[in-house]
Amino acid sequence: MSAVRIAVLVSGGGTNLQALIDAAEAGILTSGTLELVISSNPDAYALTRAADAGIPAVTVSKRALGSQEAFEGAIRALLDEYRIGLIVLAGFMSILSKDFTSRYPERIINVHPSLIPSFCGKGFYGLRVHEAALACGVKVTGATVHFVNEVPDGGRIIMQKAVDVLDGDTPQILQRRVMEQAEWKILPQAVQKVCGQMLSAPEKAP
Ligand code: GAR
Repeated sequence: MSAVRIAVLVSGGGTNLQALIDAAEAGILTSGTLELVISSNPDAYALTRAADAGIPAVTVSKRALGSQEAFEGAIRALLDEYRIGLIVLAGFMSILSKDFTSRYPERIINVHPSLIPSFCGKGFYGLRVHEAALACGVKVTGATVHFVNEVPDGGRIIMQKAVDVLDGDTPQILQRRVMEQAEWKILPQAVQKVCGQMLSAPEKAP
């Protein structure tokens, strides 16, 4: 195997997906290839980013499928079809069940916009994370890339980067700084690292 086949799961703007596309084009992400984008939201701009990069992109809507079971079943079928080795959650706003995550031990990673274990778990996603950080008055926040298990934001940490909170920050301003200074940097680095480990120790593959 020369590169790990990666699927990126998205729900919104897809700036973290873009960071992965850019890293692949810049030769920073070499141990994995972006083979598939799955969106839980048919209107996600991430779908346009995938199309522009020539990556197959599919919407899987829980609402249309009617249940978590059917939603996860459709995602699993796509992962099988595209022979995916690593699943990257990049702004994917749906919590995956234990039935799903246990099938891919240390084969799913997520980027979260805080320094876990702060401001994470159920209910902490997107701007809400930054609203909570500002309400708490922390002076440093950041981003975390971690493996995904059955505990929301609870899997083993792979990489973290701290970002200063500045006077006058709004949730939007802080979100943008955390993306620019942390998420868009550590997500490609962590994906490269995990894929490299998978390539050098394929016998450990589940
Ligand atoms: C990112 O900040 C990501 O860390 C966060 O949503 C945003 C998605 O932006 N994810 C979570 O909060 C997951 N708990 P993007 O669609 O532009 O990558």
